[in-house]
Amino acid sequence: MASINMLSIITKKKFGEELTDEEIRYFVEAAATGSAPDYQLAALLMAIRLNGMTPRETTSLTLAMTRSGDVADLSSIPGIKVDKHSTGGVGDTTTLILAPLVAACGVPVAKMSGRGLGHTGGTLDKLESIPGMSVSVSEEDFLRQVREIGIAVIGQTGQLAPADKTLYALRDVTGTVDSLPLIAGSIMSKKLAAGSDAIVLDVKTGSGAIMQTLEGSIALARTMVDIGKLAGKPVEAVVTGMEQPLGTHIGNALEVKEAIDVLSGRTQGDLLEVSLLLGAHMLVLAGKAASIEEGEDKLREALSTGRGLEKLREMIRAQGGDPRVADDLSLLPKAAVIRDVPVGKAGIIQKMDTTALGLAAQAMGAGRVRKTDPIDYAAGYVLRVRIGDKVGPEDVLCTLHASTEAIADQAEQAIRDAIVIGEEPVKRPPLWYAVVTQQGTKMHDEV
Ligand code: URA
Ligand code: CA
Repeated sequence: MASINMLSIITKKKFGEELTDEEIRYFVEAAATGSAPDYQLAALLMAIRLNGMTPRETTSLTLAMTRSGDVADLSSIPGIKVDKHSTGGVGDTTTLILAPLVAACGVPVAKMSGRGLGHTGGTLDKLESIPGMSVSVSEEDFLRQVREIGIAVIGQTGQLAPADKTLYALRDVTGTVDSLPLIAGSIMSKKLAAGSDAIVLDVKTGSGAIMQTLEGSIALARTMVDIGKLAGKPVEAVVTGMEQPLGTHIGNALEVKEAIDVLSGRTQGDLLEVSLLLGAHMLVLAGKAASIEEGEDKLREALSTGRGLEKLREMIRAQGGDPRVADDLSLLPKAAVIRDVPVGKAGIIQKMDTTALGLAAQAMGAGRVRKTDPIDYAAGYVLRVRIGDKVGPEDVLCTLHASTEAIADQAEQAIRDAIVIGEEPVKRPPLWYAVVTQQGTKMHDEV
C-alpha cells in the first residue's frame, strides 16, 4: 500500500470515498501537531463539508480528536458526573441556572465551559462579568472545589482536543463550519475529553442555531448521541428552539442578572423551562430521578427553597467573586446609556432573525469580533417582545445598555431590522422539538 499523505487523503475525499481510520488519524495528528500546512488541512475540510462522512468516519474523527490531547480525570470526585453542552444560542443562559440547581440536588457539576463565538454568547464571559470572579482554575483546585461544594464552572484545564482548536479556527475562515460531521466531531471530542460519565446535549434549531432546519438539527443530535454510544458513554440530546433568544436578556452582565432573577424566583418563562428540562435529563442520567417529571420537580424544589441560588453564591465565592451579587444586582457592571426603544407600530411579532440579534449584541461589545477584542460586560439589551405577541406603537421593543449613544443607535437599527412585525396571528414556537436518546428519537408532539 502506498504510504499515507495529506494529498492522497484529500484526493480520496474529493471523490467522495470513505477514509480509513488510519487516514483520519493521520489528518487529526497533522492538525494537532502542525505537521501539515493549513492549506492542505483546509482543502480536506472543504472536501468533507461537500462530500460528508459516514457514521464510522465521523466516530473515527471524533475519537482521534479526543485522543489528540489530555482527557480530564474526574475520578477523585465521588458520584456520577453529568456534563451539559449547548450547540450555541442567543440569550441562552441555561448553564448559570441549571448548574447550581443540579448541584443543589446532589449531582456534582464539574464543568468546563467556553467563550462567546460569533453571534452566540459564552458562559465564561458571562461569569467574568461578576466582580472578582475567576474562571482560570488549576486542575487540582477545580477537583477540590467540586469535592467540597459540588460545583465548579471554569475554562479548560490542560490541552483538551488541541486538533479541534486548529481545525475550528480554519473552519471559521474557510466556510466549513456548517458541516454535520465536523460539528459533531468538534463538540463530542471536547465533551469526551472533559471526562464526565454522561452528557446532555442541547441542540438548538431555528434562525439563531448552527443548524437552522429541524431536520438538520435532529440529524446532528442523532450523530452525536451515536458517537456517545460507540464511545461507551450515555449521551442524550434535546432539540430546542432558537427561533428567538431563549431568555430576554442578551449580553454578559445582563444574562447573569437574568439567571439570578430566575434562581431567586422573580422570573419565569422559556429560559427557566428549558433549563429545567435539560437539568431533569441530567438528574435522570445521574440516577437521581426516575423520570423527567420527577427531575423537574426536584429542580423546582431546589429553586423555591433557595438552595439553587445558595449554590451559585458558593461557587462565586469559591472562584474569587463577590457572592453579594446574588442579592444585590447593582454590584454588576452597568452601562452608561440605558434607554427604551419603542416598537413604533402596531401588529403581531411574526419572526426574528436570531443570528442578527446575537450579532447586534456582539457589535455593542458583548462579544468579540477578533479573538483578542476586549468585552464590554455591561453591553447588550433586554428584548421586551416574543414571537406571537400583539404590540402597539408605544410598547417597548427593547431596552438598550450601551457605552455610547452612537452604539445604542446602531444597535437599535440592527434589532429593528431583525424583527418582523405583521398582521397575521402567529403561534408561539414550542420550547423543544425532539429528544434523541440511544434508544431512539421522540418528537415533542408524540409525547
Ligand atoms: N461548537 C463547537 O464547539 N464546534 C462546532 O463545530 C460548532 C459549535
Ligand atoms: Ca414537564
